[in-house]
Amino acid sequence: MASIVKALPDYEIYGFMKSFDGVIDKDYTVLTRETTSHIRRIGWTILKTVNKWRFGAKTGGGDATWIDPELVRMTKKSYDELWLDGLCVLWGDGTLTTALQLHEAGIHTIGIPKSIDNDLQATDFTFGFMSAVDIVSEAMQRLHTTASSHDRVMVVEVMGRHTGWIALYAGMAGAASVILLPEMPFSYEHIVAHLEARRARWRHAHIIVVAEWAASSDGEKVLKNDGSSASEILYGGIGEALTAYLNTTTTFEARNNQLGHIQRGWSPNAYDLILATSYGAYAARMVREGVYGNMVVFTNNTMTHVPLADAVDGLKKVTPDHYLVELGKSLGICFW
Ligand code: F6P
Repeated sequence: MASIVKALPDYEIYGFMKSFDGVIDKDYTVLTRETTSHIRRIGWTILKTVNKWRFGAKTGGGDATWIDPELVRMTKKSYDELWLDGLCVLWGDGTLTTALQLHEAGIHTIGIPKSIDNDLQATDFTFGFMSAVDIVSEAMQRLHTTASSHDRVMVVEVMGRHTGWIALYAGMAGAASVILLPEMPFSYEHIVAHLEARRARWRHAHIIVVAEWAASSDGEKVLKNDGSSASEILYGGIGEALTAYLNTTTTFEARNNQLGHIQRGWSPNAYDLILATSYGAYAARMVREGVYGNMVVFTNNTMTHVPLADAVDGLKKVTPDHYLVELGKSLGICFW
C-alpha cells in the first residue's frame, strides 16, 4: 500500500474500509505518505478487513461461488460516483475471484497477491508467506527444547487452508521429523513406524509439523466450523487428533501446539517487505499504463502480470515431486 502511494504522488488514493464493503458504503480514508509509511514495518491494519460477510467468492477447496449480481451493481455504482480510475485489490484466491467478477462488470481492477498460504498458482510467492514461515520455524526451535529435555513428540499444527506450503517450508527450516500436508494423505501406522525407527537410532526428540487440512488416507478432514455460519470454513484440530492417537495407542508422549493466528501477526520479514514493495511499485506502473483485469506476479525473478482469470483458476498445491519434498525425503523426513 505504501509503495503504491509513493509511486503515484499525482493520484488521490482512497483506502476502502473492510474491503469491497467499503466501496459500496463509500467508507474510505485518503491514503498519503504520512498515513502509510509508518505502518510499513509493523503488522497493523488501518483499513480492516472481513472474511466472508457480504462478499465471499470462494467457499473452500477452490470452488468458486459467484457473488450476488446486486452487490456487483452496487459496487459499480459507488465506483462510478466516486470517479475512480481503478481498484487495486490485495488478498488471496477468494478476494481476487471477486475482483475478477468486478472486472467483468466494468470495474478496472488490479490484483496483488497477499496471503500467508502461498496458494496462488501464477506467482512464486505471495507476501505474508515467508513471515509466517519465519514464525513457525522459530516456534519449532523453541519446541525442540522440550522435545529434547522430555523425550517428547511435539506436534505443531499450522495454517495453510487447502495447501501445505507453510508446513513444508517451516518443516524444512525447523528440522521437522515428520511433515504432513493436505496434498499427501498420511498413515498413522507409517508415522509411528517412522518415530520408532528414529527411537531405535537413539533419536528421542521429534517434531511433527501438520498442516491444518492434512488428513490420513482413511480419515476425514478435521473442521472447527463448516462455514454454514457467518464465518468462513474454519480448519484445525488434526494436530489434537494426531497427538491423542500417539498418546493413547503408542508409548510416545506427545503434546499438541496449534499456532493459529500468531502466524499472521506483527512485523513482516525482510523478504516480504521487498516483495510487497515490488508488487506495489509494479501495480502503480500498471495503473499508469491502464493495464487492468490482471494480477501482479513474481516468477523466475521477474515482476510481471497475468490475467485475473488465470490467476484464480485453481490453487497452487505442493506436489510429491516438489524439490523440497524430494530433498526432505533424502534427509529422512517422513511425509505420509
Ligand atoms: O487464508 C489465510 C488463512 O490464514 C488460512 O491459512 C486459515 O485457514 C484462515 O486464513 C483462518 O481464517 P480466520 O482468520 O477467519 O480464522
